[in-house]
Amino acid sequence: MDVANLFYDQGLSQYALDFMQSSSMTSFNQLENAQRIQSIMNIPYYSQQIVTHTMERGTTKRVKLNTSFNEESLELRNIQIRRKSSRSFQEHIRLEELANLFLSSYFITERFEKHSHHLSRRSIPSGGALYPVDLYYINLNTIGLPRGIYVYNPHEESLELVQSAASKKIFFRQLKKCFPEAVLGSWNLDLISGILVFGGVLSRCSCKYGDRGLRFVLMDVGALCQNLHLSAVTNGLACCAIGGYLDQPLNDLLGFQQPNESALLSMFVGK
Ligand SMILES: Cc1cc2nc3c(=O)[nH]c(=O)nc-3n(C[C@H](O)[C@H](O)[C@H](O)COP(=O)(O)O)c2cc1C
Repeated sequence: MDVANLFYDQGLSQYALDFMQSSSMTSFNQLENAQRIQSIMNIPYYSQQIVTHTMERGTTKRVKLNTSFNEESLELRNIQIRRKSSRSFQEHIRLEELANLFLSSYFITERFEKHSHHLSRRSIPSGGALYPVDLYYINLNTIGLPRGIYVYNPHEESLELVQSAASKKIFFRQLKKCFPEAVLGSWNLDLISGILVFGGVLSRCSCKYGDRGLRFVLMDVGALCQNLHLSAVTNGLACCAIGGYLDQPLNDLLGFQQPNESALLSMFVGK
């Protein structure tokens, strides 16, 4: 088996590729999606019903869980209690605060010697230590960082410029196309410091795990999302995961090569 070919061959089946396609938000299905979301959001009782309905187990024996937290686990619990999705931003973050966010949520925890075959481990678990998600930062208003699109490099602990913004007006217009009001409601881009995009490199996982690798990529997104949320709390920052974006314009803006590179989630960041 030639490993080089494994990476360049399409490791995902047509079913998996179809799933990526059918789960995309497009300009054609955005209104249908928005209506479905609104019909649930408008009546809070529905959300309650959905959650409780799928938790019903009938009559079961219960084992009461009594805790014995130590100081550290209490601290971790308290950080989780303070975590929340913020949708109103007041101030802009500074570059150092952005650095704190990245380096306390996604970073190399253990480096091995260069000639070693082992990979560096990072701050999240990842199937096969393949780390198939790259974090992009669309900088709108971060203080001390020129406007543009960056990719975070955890090895060098740096941001690499992918594309600088031509002008604020054109840049914001491009972003409004990616995050349409029809789906998200109105958001003031002037108040958001930047938008994180979780860029999945599907082939990084599928070359080893095939279709099952697609699940693993999504799990990395979840772990990263939670780490970023918890880091935001401890660094006095605010964030909100945003699934309501149009896939194609966002993928195009970031220069992703479909279908193997895809924006899997985004996150508004501010203060
Ligand atoms: C995958 C995912 C997608 C989300 N998409 C949106 C979104 O498009 N718009 C939004 O306002 N919130 C979005 N959220 C935030 C959730 O609504 C929020 O996590 C949930 O209401 C629970 O609130 P909490 O995070 O403050 O505990 C998203 C969260 C996740 C994890």
